[in-house]
Amino acid sequence: MKITKAVIPAAGLGTRVLPATKAMPKEMLPIVDKPSIQYIVEEAVNSGITDILIITNRGKGIIEDHFDRTPMLENALEKGNKTELLDSIKDIHKLANISYIRQIETKGLGHAVARAKTFVGGEPFVVMYGDDVIIGDVPATKELIDAYGKHGKGVLGVKKVDAKDIYKYSSLKVENIHDNIYKCTDMIEKPQTEKEVLSLFSVQGRCILPPEIFDILENTKPGAGGEIQLTDAMRELATTVGMTAVEYSGKRYDMGNKLGILKASIDVGLEHDEVKDGLKEYIKELAKTL
Ligand code: UTP
Repeated sequence: MKITKAVIPAAGLGTRVLPATKAMPKEMLPIVDKPSIQYIVEEAVNSGITDILIITNRGKGIIEDHFDRTPMLENALEKGNKTELLDSIKDIHKLANISYIRQIETKGLGHAVARAKTFVGGEPFVVMYGDDVIIGDVPATKELIDAYGKHGKGVLGVKKVDAKDIYKYSSLKVENIHDNIYKCTDMIEKPQTEKEVLSLFSVQGRCILPPEIFDILENTKPGAGGEIQLTDAMRELATTVGMTAVEYSGKRYDMGNKLGILKASIDVGLEHDEVKDGLKEYIKELAKTL
């Protein structure tokens, strides 16, 4: 079955980036000149996704504004012959069919994804975590969709994390199938002890889920941090029908974390035509003083 729908949960509180995220959704924090959620929507579109549901909450209306038209601004740029700037904004609203739903209470990623039941219907769909930007030659979501086509099970986008960091993430029990493709048979969210760590592979920002996940989520009790964890629901799939894990090729930036935001700005800035020369010069000079 062709996968055309994506869900972007963007209703978190963003406490790790306060005070920046007191009034500004973390998903709108820019990487050089584009909000991070636009990178995610573009990744979806470049992977064949046509319909996107963004899960928001109070104070995140600016995300809807960003993907809307801006006639006054467009007219002003047109009149001023600012063609390049006009081109950078005029088609944002055409990227995909984007709809929105609110998560009234912030009860965790699993609870947020459960809001997408009506939108998803009976199809498999992609979940793209709203604060994980992945940049690479091939869109990560496309790599996951290809794996779904071959293996027909739910797919997890994974990366290995440092041993000291695995306690902040999920940890997966995996077995290599070939190259970057693994079979996943178990997982745990935020292991507490070394014994609980199943491997250093962790779900990092993307997954493809079958619609059966909604029934599972309805019965998922609060887990780590008192939140309804998507990992706990996916564990049921992994331990019964199994899931496929794909170590995607792009680089992931955690935009919910101060260091992740800085790294993204530097890496993207060093590739950005307008600023790369100035930034390189600045970094070289700065490095001499470090
Ligand atoms: P995070 O755990 O990173 O989001 O969830 P958070 O709660 O904003 O993080 P803190 O406060 O800095 O620790 C990963 C993704 O899931 C979304 C977030 O917006 C983020 O994109 N999310 C999380 C929801 O949509 N709803 C929730 O209840 C929790």
